Amino acid sequence: MLPGDVARFEPLAGGVSSDIWLVRAGAAEFCVKRALDRLRVAAEWRADISRNATEVRWLTEVASLDSDLVPAVLASDPSVGAFAMEYLPPGRYEPWKAQLARGCVIPETAATVGRQLASIHAAFARSGTAAADFATDTSFHDLRIEPYLLATARAHPDLASVLEALAERTAQTKLTVVHGDVSPKNILLGARGPVFLDAECAWFGDPAFDLAFCLNHLLLKTLWVPSAAHELLTSFDAMAGAYLAGVDWEPAAALEQRAAHLLPALSLARVDGKSPVEYLTSDESKNTVRCLARPLLTHPQDRLEGVRRAWGGRTSDIRRSSPSQDDVVEAVIGRRVWDSRGRPTVEAEVVLRSGIRGRGMAPAGASTGANEAVDLRDGGSVFGGLGVDRAVGHVSTEIASALVGLPVMDQEAIDRTLIALDGTPNKSRLGANATVAVSMAALHAAAAQLGIPLWRHLAGGSEPLLPMPMVQIFGGGAHAGRRVDIQDFLVVPVGAATFDQAISIAMRIYEAAGRIMAERAGPRGVADEGGWWPEFSSNSDALDALLVAIERAGLRPGVDAAIAIDVAASQLQSGAGYRFASENKELSSDELADILLQWCRRYPIVSVEDPLGQDDDAGMREFTSRAGAHVQVVGDDYLVTSAQRIAAAATAGACDVLLLKLNQAATITETTAPLLEARAEGWSSIVSARSGETEDVTIVHLAVGWGAGQLKVGSCARSERTAKWNEGLRIEESLGSAAVLGRLPVRKPF
Ligand code: PGA
Ligand code: ZN
Repeated sequence: MLPGDVARFEPLAGGVSSDIWLVRAGAAEFCVKRALDRLRVAAEWRADISRNATEVRWLTEVASLDSDLVPAVLASDPSVGAFAMEYLPPGRYEPWKAQLARGCVIPETAATVGRQLASIHAAFARSGTAAADFATDTSFHDLRIEPYLLATARAHPDLASVLEALAERTAQTKLTVVHGDVSPKNILLGARGPVFLDAECAWFGDPAFDLAFCLNHLLLKTLWVPSAAHELLTSFDAMAGAYLAGVDWEPAAALEQRAAHLLPALSLARVDGKSPVEYLTSDESKNTVRCLARPLLTHPQDRLEGVRRAWGGRTSDIRRSSPSQDDVVEAVIGRRVWDSRGRPTVEAEVVLRSGIRGRGMAPAGASTGANEAVDLRDGGSVFGGLGVDRAVGHVSTEIASALVGLPVMDQEAIDRTLIALDGTPNKSRLGANATVAVSMAALHAAAAQLGIPLWRHLAGGSEPLLPMPMVQIFGGGAHAGRRVDIQDFLVVPVGAATFDQAISIAMRIYEAAGRIMAERAGPRGVADEGGWWPEFSSNSDALDALLVAIERAGLRPGVDAAIAIDVAASQLQSGAGYRFASENKELSSDELADILLQWCRRYPIVSVEDPLGQDDDAGMREFTSRAGAHVQVVGDDYLVTSAQRIAAAATAGACDVLLLKLNQAATITETTAPLLEARAEGWSSIVSARSGETEDVTIVHLAVGWGAGQLKVGSCARSERTAKWNEGLRIEESLGSAAVLGRLPVRKPF
């Protein structure tokens, strides 16, 4: 570069952590690289720009060993965290990653990389000067240990102790200068062999990290380029073999064991850590990685060959069903079972080729919305017309034939098949009771095949959240012979710190309410969802009794436990308005809204569900505008778990919380869309059971895995209800200190 030359900067595709420019000035051509202090990844991730000076030091040291291994450093300015280096033009150098992506996989290349990496490690092994020059523990922790190992430990709490121990051991092993980012992306292939780039994470530490880090890329790429899976695994062996042959600073077996233990942790990290690989996007491929990595963490292999063998079983294209695959559907069985009201319902069982089974049972509503998916019943006189023989028949015949051979990990494909097979907009042909049971069964089978709890399977990489329970104390409306008009009088244990505390608060209130019921004259019993079935003189009489029950339980209304109501107003529609039959009162939409608002002012109410009827759009808008700042306005019959209806309601300002019922939507996939839509609108969601239930606990896992925030499954009595609360307790226990309880969105008091 001569005086007077003008430098032109052209940005090159940089990594997530630096800006890189190609600079042309006169005849000179070189690169300038500057470190960023906030990395370009979705998660907040900051790192000290002094790593730029570390990289310069690594490039310079390695150049003194063999100048072909690195681009030459031309100048550096640590004060701005930038340096200039030789430009290696794409015409003469191809990134190894690009070659692999093309399906051109040459095991000899991997062997050369392995051999050279070992020679670099050997050159600095046990060197006191190198230990001082690369004492970058903090930066290695920030760039590697935390985002890869510790972030993954948070995503997989049940493996946290294993992952934390690996993090600790890696951080403590101080043997030689490690590159820290040896991956096909950072290796250019030129006429003189591989050139190593991007040594920002260089650190005097554990060389097993470099080996495992690079081998991991070869494993993950078997899912990216399945046609070259065999060659990638051969490359894995070639690299591992060549590297280990060059280990002279410690027993090669010791290093191999550390690398083999670390490898599955890094695989999991590239799916659930802070820096997921960009090419594994489908849930199916992410689940494959989890399914391979998790057992290797609980049952570590000491030889790299053992890790490779686990992956070798998966080399065929995972999208295509092949006879060797054990996670494809082998059979689907339909069965008539009985629900909590003694009515027939559909159970489906999905059997995989592995022999693993998953089961789902359809729930059933009594106060169903007009726009729900159709619960198919046989009609006629037997069982009051509620037989499910037709729906069960569909599961065992048509549905079974359509699903056999599909990979169970692809829930969307399973659900799409069900939707297409039914062919109606509301599942009226096959029956939503058939499709929901099958969809749930497939989901359970997938989690069982992965060997992980359902909530974990659903959470994927996101944080699970225990739901705040909404627990019925008094049942009314269609669930209690309409003794009182309002369908549900519930409590929300807002003062609880844990799910366990929340349930025990609700149980204390239920018990106190039972004592109050016993003291009152007149008939009493337990309604469909287990709540006390009251003989109240009016709806507000029930609210008064609930308030007394909270106090009698020794709790503070509104502080320890607040009140929620489900008006289920579609059930109260009469002529152009509404009717409180228990009070013999005809009400207009405005009058009903006025009464509800008065209650909201008088009682510690935090949530009102279906305050007006499913067709009363104007009433819902009006109520939401008056009450929405102070209480949750929940749409059940009004939204029927439909993404379209949520979008319309959000635009109109009619209700602001989703009640999510699996069988309103009819498949797992069709339940996801409404949940995401609600989230996009900034709404909270309540996963809900139906009044007709079974021992099936799928919805608890949905609430936790999807992080819905709230759960409504009825009362404290009847085992189909307690089965769900008890499952929540088990999940909370398994999460240990990682368990977090959902909160209601904050609202202003009236
Ligand atoms: P359903 O009632 O299951 O009878 O429809 C539950 C609810 O309205 O929330
Ligand atoms: Zn409801």
